[in-house]
Amino acid sequence: MMDTASNERLTRVGPGTPGGELLRRYWQPLCPAGEITPENPKKRMRILGEDLLVFRDGQGQLACVEEHCKHRGVSLYYGFIEECGLRCCYHGWLYGSDGRCLEQPFEPAKSTLKDEIRLKSYPVRELGGLLFTYMGPFPDKAPLPPRWDVLVREDGARRINVYPVHHCNWLQIQENTADSTHTFYLHGVMDRKLGFKHPFAA
Ligand code: FES
Repeated sequence: MMDTASNERLTRVGPGTPGGELLRRYWQPLCPAGEITPENPKKRMRILGEDLLVFRDGQGQLACVEEHCKHRGVSLYYGFIEECGLRCCYHGWLYGSDGRCLEQPFEPAKSTLKDEIRLKSYPVRELGGLLFTYMGPFPDKAPLPPRWDVLVREDGARRINVYPVHHCNWLQIQENTADSTHTFYLHGVMDRKLGFKHPFAA
């Protein structure tokens, strides 16, 4: 049985945790590139314990920023895409794709407040039909996006399966993978009883 401290150390992935800092040295997959289109230019997601918003601005530039407005915390998911960024729906603060605050419509003209405001933002790259982000120190010490064969080979068809988000800790998914005997009942007996067809089945 693992003690509480070891359990915390192994399962936490937020900023400043040992696991989180390690994982922030790797490019993290976000979603298929085809999910961020002119018709649906925004997607919010939780990656390594951070609430993020991925969007494409009016010039087609991809961006990944923290989800909530620095003013009063409204989700920028409800904001409006503009040529050079995303405008918050609440009081109209405009953010660039690099997270800088570009406009604050109701602040005095001489205010320098916007120069102090910046959303956390991460680079986005497209590879093999997927979007990746890098949440560690960038560009210093950032590796190149992973050119794995499944992402760059061009001599075949590539299929991307998107599964529902699992609302649990990553460790529980890995425990399930290592639990090989569940496959007989859950994916065998139960699937047959319920008439469920596995997506990889022929
Ligand atoms: S909460 Fe976003 S501009 Fe006020």
